[in-house]
Amino acid sequence: MKSIFITEVHQGLSSTPKTLPSKYFYNKKGDALFVEIMNLPEYYLTLSELDIFQNKTQELIEALGLQLDAYFELIELGAGDGTKTKELLKVLDQKKYNFDYFPIDISANALELLKQDLNKEIPNLNVQTRQGDYFEILASLKMSKKPKIVMFLGSNIGNMNDELASKFIYNLGSNLQTDDKLLLGVDLIKAKDIVLPAYNDCKGVTAKFNLNLLDRINNELGGNFKLDKFKHQPEYTQKEGIAKSFLVSTTNQTVKIQATERMYSFTKGEKIHTEISRKYNDTVLNKIIANTDFEIQNKIMDSKAYFADYILKRN
Ligand code: AVJ
Repeated sequence: MKSIFITEVHQGLSSTPKTLPSKYFYNKKGDALFVEIMNLPEYYLTLSELDIFQNKTQELIEALGLQLDAYFELIELGAGDGTKTKELLKVLDQKKYNFDYFPIDISANALELLKQDLNKEIPNLNVQTRQGDYFEILASLKMSKKPKIVMFLGSNIGNMNDELASKFIYNLGSNLQTDDKLLLGVDLIKAKDIVLPAYNDCKGVTAKFNLNLLDRINNELGGNFKLDKFKHQPEYTQKEGIAKSFLVSTTNQTVKIQATERMYSFTKGEKIHTEISRKYNDTVLNKIIANTDFEIQNKIMDSKAYFADYILKRN
C-alpha cells in the first residue's frame, strides 16, 4: 500500500505537467474535510441529489422497474453515511418492497455507523454491509443470481477520466446480469459561475482539502512541502465540462521527499494537477458507455437541473 503511494507520488511529481492522484485526499483528515465540503452552501451537488431522492422517489422507483413482489438486491458503492439513500430506503420499506440493502465501502467504521443508524430508523430493513474492494465484492454477490440494482451516487465517477470511467462501468457490467440496473448520480455540465464556487468556497475548506495532500506526503513520506508556499486553484470551462483542481507554487522552490530519495523543483506559478471533477450530459455519458453493455434508460434531475441520476440498463 505504502510503496504504491511512494511510486505514484514520485511518478506524478516527475511528470510534466506535475500531477498527484486525487484518491490520496482521503485519509482521516481528508474524510472530515470532505464531510465539511458537502455541507458548504457553494457545494450544490449534495443538496441537488438529495432533492432527487426526497422529491422524485416515486420516479426513481418506476424508472428502476421495481415490482412489489419481485425480490431484488440494492447495492451501493461507497455508501458513506447513506443520507440520500435513506430517503429511498424509507419509501421502499413503507411500500413493502421485497429487497435487501448491501452497502459497500472501504471504511469499516462508516459501514458500522450506517448499519446502526439504519437498524434504528428502518428496523425492518435487512442491511448486509460489505467492506472492501467494489469489484471483489460484486464478483462474490454475482453468485446469488438475484436481480440487482447498483447505485454509485454523488458524482463520484467524476474523479475518473472518461477512459477510466468507461472501464469502470464495463467492469460493473461484467459483474451483473441482463436487466440489472445501474443508478449513476452525476453532476451536469453547467455555467462556470455555479460550478467554480463549489470548488473554491469562501471559507477555504476546499483549499485545505487540496493542500492536505501535501501534508499527507509530509507526514507519511517524509516530505518537506511548505504548505504556505502553495495555493489552491480550481479551473473550469463549460465547453470542456471538467472542473480541475491545482496546487500552484507561489515561488521558485525545491521540495525533498525522504521516501522517494528525491528532490523536486518548482518554478514560481508551476502547477500540480490534483483532481478532475467531470461534469456530464447525455452525449458525454453515451460516449463513455458506448463500449459497455449498458444503455441509458432514464434520467431524473433535481428541480434546478443541476444534477442527474441516470438509470442505465444492463443489456
Ligand atoms: C467526491 C468526487 C464527487 O469532485 O465534486 C469535492 C470531490 N473535490 N471538492 C467532487 C471534491 C473537491 C467530489 N467527488
